[in-house]
Amino acid sequence: MSLTSTDNATLSIKTDRTVRVGTCPEPLVRAIRAEVRRGLDWQQTADRVVGVLRADLPDPATLLPAELRHGNPACYQSHLLYAEPGGSFSVSAMVWLPGQQTAIHDHVAWCVTGVLQGREYEEVFALADGGRALAIVAQNVNPAGAVSGFAPPGDIHRVHNTGDDVAISMHVYGADISRLGNSIRREYTLPLLP
Ligand SMILES: [Fe+2]
Repeated sequence: MSLTSTDNATLSIKTDRTVRVGTCPEPLVRAIRAEVRRGLDWQQTADRVVGVLRADLPDPATLLPAELRHGNPACYQSHLLYAEPGGSFSVSAMVWLPGQQTAIHDHVAWCVTGVLQGREYEEVFALADGGRALAIVAQNVNPAGAVSGFAPPGDIHRVHNTGDDVAISMHVYGADISRLGNSIRREYTLPLLP
């Protein structure tokens, strides 16, 4: 895994090949798999996986060893926990120090996020001005225990640890990030409308 920073405030992760370093509890994997195998559309699948995580949101200590739960001053970290054989879904844990944030981006497939520790601030954007700019359409503060899901299109967003402590979240993607490196479709550098 290699890390790159795009500027001092916004950091992104580029992975050539992702190696599993954590663990997703087997009952949780089975429950996610059962929902994915229903073959529903992306939004319906995301909604059902939201239900799975809300019912069984794990403690971060069950997912990652202690040394990976401290965060990294260079960049927020994404750790692969599980990749389903065949590639229909994968699971990661993200660890953020206070102030770290993603680029504005969207995803190649549905995604479900559960905040396990700390607090994450999410901004949601829409293309504006004929696709030449972005307008902010929602701002959400997600404390520990919050679970949310989305499916493209319309999933342009940015996530920021605005808390005072390390934030850890769990992500389930409808894509195989062990092969793709991550599930980001595009990063946006368009101007933001006031
Ligand atoms: Fe994202």
